[in-house]
Amino acid sequence: MPLPYTEKVLEHFRNPRNVGCIENPDGKSTEGSPACGDMVSVYIKVDPETKVISDIKFESYGCASNIATGSIITELAKGKTLEDAKRIDWRTASEALGGLPKIKVHCSVLAVEGLRAAIQNYEEKHGLIKERKPTTIDTIHSRLHKVMNPMAGLDVERTHIVKDVILKDGEVTIAIDLPSNHQFASAIKEEIREKIEFLWDIKKVNIEFTD
Ligand code: FES
Repeated sequence: MPLPYTEKVLEHFRNPRNVGCIENPDGKSTEGSPACGDMVSVYIKVDPETKVISDIKFESYGCASNIATGSIITELAKGKTLEDAKRIDWRTASEALGGLPKIKVHCSVLAVEGLRAAIQNYEEKHGLIKERKPTTIDTIHSRLHKVMNPMAGLDVERTHIVKDVILKDGEVTIAIDLPSNHQFASAIKEEIREKIEFLWDIKKVNIEFTD
């Protein structure tokens, strides 16, 4: 039986707004859903003076609900300050779409997390994080849970290619169970860097492959 989608969900799914990526974004994220394993990437451009999101795009590798929510939250966030955009949650998105079936709530949560992570990435890059908690091994592991392993469509932690994580005096060393010439090695390396190197107390990130 088809899911009871509203007309608005179907319209945003068929004609999603703000799809694609932004070259040299000011903030970006790739988030994965623990519920279904699907992914979403969000890119933002931010006015450095006013902190207003001047442009935003998303790429969804998820379902119709995720595409529709990605579309609506980019519309809602464009033109808002970072602080106002942070207040957009899955309920805001669902209401703007006229409602989502209950079993599809996690798809809207994924889109919202993508937006929040892109904002967080911007704030980390620009030293704007207010709550400066010391980075721990658990922080690193939770960041690695957001790095996709393109071979499996799941994150690098759940696919067990993270062999070791060492954190000492602001220097992180991560051992990845792949040869450095593997076709996905450089993409994984870049994503790990992006998720970790801007943490306020991290000075250096080393990523070691098996050779
Ligand atoms: Fe995965 Fe909707 S089922 S994003």
